[in-house]
Amino acid sequence: MNLNDCHNFSDFRQLAKKRLPGPIFHYIDGAADDELTYRRNTAAYEEVDLVPNVLRGVVDIDMSVEVMGQKLDMPLYCAPTALQRLFHHEGERAVARAATKYGTMFGVSSLATVTVEEIAELAPGPKLFQFYFHKDRGLNNALLERARAANFNVMALTVDTITGGNRERDLRTGFTSPPKLNLSSMWSFATHPAWAWNFFTGDKFDMPHLSGHINEGTNVAVSVGDYFSTMLDPTMSWDDAEKLCSQWNGQFALKGIMSVEDAQRAVDIGCTGIMVSNHGGRQLDGSRAPFDQLEEICDAVGDKIDVICEGGIQRGTHVLKALSVGAKAVSGGRLYLYALAAAGQAGVERALGNFKTEIERDMRLMGVQRVDELGRGNLRKRGG
Ligand code: LAC
Repeated sequence: MNLNDCHNFSDFRQLAKKRLPGPIFHYIDGAADDELTYRRNTAAYEEVDLVPNVLRGVVDIDMSVEVMGQKLDMPLYCAPTALQRLFHHEGERAVARAATKYGTMFGVSSLATVTVEEIAELAPGPKLFQFYFHKDRGLNNALLERARAANFNVMALTVDTITGGNRERDLRTGFTSPPKLNLSSMWSFATHPAWAWNFFTGDKFDMPHLSGHINEGTNVAVSVGDYFSTMLDPTMSWDDAEKLCSQWNGQFALKGIMSVEDAQRAVDIGCTGIMVSNHGGRQLDGSRAPFDQLEEICDAVGDKIDVICEGGIQRGTHVLKALSVGAKAVSGGRLYLYALAAAGQAGVERALGNFKTEIERDMRLMGVQRVDELGRGNLRKRGG
C-alpha cells in the first residue's frame, strides 16, 4: 500500500499504522476509557440523512467560508494537534504548507514541535494558535505574546483538559514524549527503520514554545496525561478565560465547549468563536458527540458567535451535514494526522485534496453552489 492507494480516512489510517512505531500510532489512534465517545463522534453523522434537490444547474461551486474573520477557501481546516514531528519528520512544516496550498487555516498547538515564527514564514494564510493555560503564568504570557508577534490570526483556549483523560492505549504502550528508550520501544523503532532514521537523524526533537520555561518541553519523557495533570492549571475559570480574551484583544475562541450554558458564557466574555468539541474523544468518555450538540448550540448562539464543529469528520458529507445544521466550518485532527504520518506534506495535501473533491461533488449532488444555501431543510433525522 502507498499514498496513491489512499482514497479515504481509513486508507490513510492503514498506511499510518504501517509506517509508525506502535506506541506513536496508538497515541494518535486512541482515545479515553472505552473509546465510546471517539466512535460516537463519527457515528453521529450516520444518524442524520441528507435530502438533495435536483435540476438546479450547479456549475460553479464556491465552498469558501468566513470564520472568525478569516476567509477560508474550503469549510474545513486543520485543528491544532501536538507533537507533529513525532508522526513525521516534516511535522508542522508539512501541515502548514499543505493547508496554505488549499487556502485553509492551520492550527498550531502549544505543544508544537516547530516554532510559530517558522510557521508564520511558511504559511502566510490564516493561522490559529491553540493555548494551554499553564500554572506558570510567565509561560502563559510568553505563549500569547509570541503568537501575537508571529501574526497569528486566531487564539483558541482549550478548555477540556482540566485534567488528563484516561488513555489506556498509552498506558499499555508506555507512550511518552519524547519516546522513552527501553526494550519494547527500541523494538518498535527497529521494526520501523525509515521512521527511526528520520526521527533520530533529523533536528533534535523538542517543544520549542515550552522549552525555555519548563523541563517538559525538552528531554524529559512525559505522558500527555501527566502533562495535563501537572503542568496545566486546574483552577482555570471563566475569569481567567475572560482576561485572556481581553489580553489577546482579537479573534478569540474556546475549544472544547459542549453545553449551551457554556456557549452563552463564551459570548458573554467576548469570544468570537467556539469549537464544539470533546477533544476527539480523548478526554471525557461518554461525552456526547459534537455533531449531536450542534443544533441546540447553534440555536442558542449561532447568530452571535462562530460555531465550529470539531471531531469525527471523515467524509465530505459529514462536512455538509455540520454546515446544514449551522456550523460555520468544521475541523479535525486525525483527518490529516494519519496522512501526515503516511507521507508527510504530500500525504496531507492528498487528504485535504480528497476532502475538497468530496465536498465539491457532494455540493453538486445536493444541488447547491454555495455553502450558505445549505440549511436544516436538507436534513432528516433517521426514522423522522
Ligand atoms: C492530546 C493533546 C495533546 O489529545 O491535545 O493528546
